[in-house]
Amino acid sequence: MATTQATAPGKVILFGEHAVVYGRPAIAAPVSQVRAIATVRDRPDGPAVLLLPDLGERILLDATAEHPLAVAAQQVQRHLGRPQLPPLTVTVQSAIPIAGGLGSGAALAAALIRALLTHLDAPPAPQLVGDLTYEVEKLYHGTPSGIDNTVVALEQPVYFVRRSPRNQIEPFRVACPVALLIGDTGVRSSTRAAVEDVRRHWTAQPARFEALFDRCGALAEAARRALECGDLPELGRLMDANHAVLQEITVSSAELDRLTAVARAAGALGAKLSGAGRGGNMIALVHPETAVLVEQSLKEAGARQVLHTVLLPTV
Ligand code: PMV
Repeated sequence: MATTQATAPGKVILFGEHAVVYGRPAIAAPVSQVRAIATVRDRPDGPAVLLLPDLGERILLDATAEHPLAVAAQQVQRHLGRPQLPPLTVTVQSAIPIAGGLGSGAALAAALIRALLTHLDAPPAPQLVGDLTYEVEKLYHGTPSGIDNTVVALEQPVYFVRRSPRNQIEPFRVACPVALLIGDTGVRSSTRAAVEDVRRHWTAQPARFEALFDRCGALAEAARRALECGDLPELGRLMDANHAVLQEITVSSAELDRLTAVARAAGALGAKLSGAGRGGNMIALVHPETAVLVEQSLKEAGARQVLHTVLLPTV
């Protein structure tokens, strides 16, 4: 019986979270060390079934299933114009922490969509995987900008601007290795709640929040230039500046402020919260030689987990 496997990486937003929802540019990169993995196997007969061993769940993949990953399977079925899926077992597992801003929901859906398309002999083009993943994100996260599904589907650093009818998506090359630590506050936070809260502030004080979003957009533009010419000290300064604007946008927290300050004091070139904020993860830009010291300091300051990732110049 045929078996197909596919994976998708986690992701970090490097610059421009929240402002990206309001049409400003943002930059995100894949975190390839932590991945979601989907395996599709033929069954002799019976309905298509989804297994989630991490949660001990078994879900029938029929038209009424409401689980986000069942909706992902329905997206593939609809795209292929099939009345139903053939007899299959789809198993999805992930090493990406949930609700921490590392894109676990998007990665799980993208891995499943990629595996299912491949298994059913349809080419899993990155744009298609990203678009179908977005349909799933929309149902479960309110008004997602589209940056998460884009970066996990393309698996490259991307410059992203939310646009209608099509987003502006520009994968780009970093000029030198960019070493990042990702520190988990241990506080789970809801992206939907944070995004809704920012919308309330924006509605109450539109001019002030538009100006804050403009500053985030300008920082993302400058960061792309710094990444493309390998200016890491400048990139670090831009991260610190973006964190300060995110504090004003009200999405930082005591834990995020503490961990970013500790990282800078231990030698990081810059640090900021990443993703929706109010908890979740922060990122610190480090030289390889200071990485261990910064990691130790983050752990002593309460980080639950510290991941190392390096963005590499690809050809
Ligand atoms: O928490 P995350 O990584 O899913 O980040 C969400 C990023 C936001 O800009 C806050 C929302 C969005 O849809 O882009």
